[in-house]
Amino acid sequence: MEFDNGKQNQRCTFRGIKLVSFVALCLILVSPADAFDPLDPTGNVTIRWDIMSWTSDGYMATVTLFNFQLYRNIMNPGWTLGWTWAKKEIIWAMMGAQATEQGDCAKFKLKIPHSCKRSPQVVDLLPGASYNMQYTNCCKGGVLTSWGQDPTGAISAFQMGVGLSGRSNKTVKLPKDFKLLGPGPGYSCGPAKRVPSTVIFTDDHRRKAQALMSWNVTCTYSQFLASKNPSCCVSLSSFYNDQVTACPTCACGCQNNATCVTKDSKILKESDGNNKTRKSDITPKPLLQCTHHLCHVRVHWHIKDNYKDYWRVKIAIINFNYRLNFTQWGLVVQHPNLNNVTQVYSFEYMPLLPYEAINDTGMFYGLKYYNDLLMEAGPKGNVQSEVLMKKDKNTFTLKQGWAFPRRVYFNGDECMLPPPDSYPFLPNSAYSLPKSVTLIKAYVIFASFFIWF
Ligand SMILES: *[C@@H]1O[C@H](CO)[C@@H](O)[C@H](O)[C@H]1NC(C)=O
Ligand SMILES: *[C@@H]1O[C@H](CO)[C@@H](O)[C@H](O)[C@H]1NC(C)=O
Ligand SMILES: *[C@@H]1O[C@H](CO)[C@@H](O)[C@H](O)[C@H]1NC(C)=O
Ligand SMILES: *[C@@H]1O[C@H](CO)[C@@H](O)[C@H](O)[C@H]1NC(C)=O
Ligand SMILES: *[C@@H]1O[C@H](CO)[C@@H](O)[C@H](O)[C@H]1NC(C)=O
Ligand SMILES: *[C@@H]1O[C@H](CO)[C@@H](O)[C@H](O)[C@H]1NC(C)=O
Ligand SMILES: *[C@@H]1O[C@H](CO)[C@@H](O)[C@H](O)[C@H]1NC(C)=O
Ligand SMILES: *[C@@H]1O[C@H](CO)[C@@H](O)[C@H](O)[C@H]1NC(C)=O
Repeated sequence: MEFDNGKQNQRCTFRGIKLVSFVALCLILVSPADAFDPLDPTGNVTIRWDIMSWTSDGYMATVTLFNFQLYRNIMNPGWTLGWTWAKKEIIWAMMGAQATEQGDCAKFKLKIPHSCKRSPQVVDLLPGASYNMQYTNCCKGGVLTSWGQDPTGAISAFQMGVGLSGRSNKTVKLPKDFKLLGPGPGYSCGPAKRVPSTVIFTDDHRRKAQALMSWNVTCTYSQFLASKNPSCCVSLSSFYNDQVTACPTCACGCQNNATCVTKDSKILKESDGNNKTRKSDITPKPLLQCTHHLCHVRVHWHIKDNYKDYWRVKIAIINFNYRLNFTQWGLVVQHPNLNNVTQVYSFEYMPLLPYEAINDTGMFYGLKYYNDLLMEAGPKGNVQSEVLMKKDKNTFTLKQGWAFPRRVYFNGDECMLPPPDSYPFLPNSAYSLPKSVTLIKAYVIFASFFIWF
């Protein structure tokens, strides 16, 4: 009876996986160049550019970035926004952000512009920027939370005075080639599109102002554009078997003395101690600990307890990067029992419902000021939590790896799972583990996930 149930569930699970895979495949075939994330199909970063007033030779604009991605944050060192002017525009002044280069402003004699670059790059100001340089929603060092985690932290804005642009909605030309770096590659932006003029509340929410002209740019993320290798992997263990299933070897690349450092490396010792780090190292290069998986982050899933009506999982996230703190990290997990999460200890939990009816995916993130910062590699470089889930008697089983996650994403990048035939197995289970046909099938389906996404 029980065995039958197991089989049936499994069939259902596979049917589910196949369906999702099929949908994903279709979408990929339809638009091969587009980034598509099955867990966040409409995820994007939108840049809205609102012209609020005309000036003697141009306009004042408010530029707002919305990180509409459900679970992908923009981590330190934050976003950089670039574009190419359509004409010979210059930036007279900026509030709440700054262009990284002034460029050649030699032909200006009286008043010197903020930037004369034809393709300026703009970065957010740091927290604590002087008061007269601030602007609403500015000065977060470019760090944006995901929309799912905290919509108020997912918005960034700056004000800009543009010159030599024309000063009417007929003469202003939209900038081109928008580029969003944040904080690495991976985003691609579409063209700017005219949209109906934005209506904005004034700061005191008592008056609605309307932009004179508005346009939107939409940028989407692709993990494959960001890096050809994953950046994280998953290891597994359980209370019923001593075996720990490690991350796959070379999950994120293979060891090589140019890509990683050992614990007792000289470089580490130099940067340790309290010696001042060099001024030139504003954003120090990541420094990865040598491991067989070479991932920046490992996520560990441990099946801890099996009670009558509940079961408990322990989740740990371990940082292997000696020079990178993950600010406002986010972990996304897909597992069929996440629809019955009863309690999550020391992480926040938010269900994600990409396909409204299927409640099997959710995001874990840190508690503010407690563990929302995953510290650099070392004794403090990990965060942990436990999750209590209520069993659905018809589906719950410890057999056949059912209790392990189907997919895991850290900070928006999919983590590599070990192959299912290496999962810790249940002792004395009637079912023989490695060579069952369904497992091979499962492996093929899992493997194809890695090829597709
Ligand atoms: C961007 O995300 C928002 C919010 O999810 C959505 O309403 C909008 O349609 C998306 N834009 C595109 C072009 O996908
Ligand atoms: C330009 O602005 C004028 C007045 O504000 C408006 O009547 C006109 O429709 C606008 N033209 C375009 C192309 O948006
Ligand atoms: C432009 O972006 C804003 C802010 O994200 C959004 O509210 C608006 O619907 C977008 N307009 C269009 C036409 O996509
Ligand atoms: C890396 O290892 C190779 C062979 O083991 C050696 O030839 C090379 O000098 C090493 N490079 C560095 C930077 O240590
Ligand atoms: C770093 O600091 C240690 C003591 O804290 C000192 O012995 C060492 O010389 C310093 N190294 C450099 C490069 O300044
Ligand atoms: C990480 O955060 C800790 C505590 O805020 C800080 O001491 C350390 O310098 C940070 N490391 C990096 C690489 O930013
Ligand atoms: C999804 O599951 C969570 C518990 O994990 C529950 O709180 C939430 O109400 C569920 N949402 C839907 C729409 O079923
Ligand atoms: C699990 O969650 C689903 C949907 O939220 C609900 O219908 C079901 O009754 C729950 N199962 C248990 C055992 O609570």
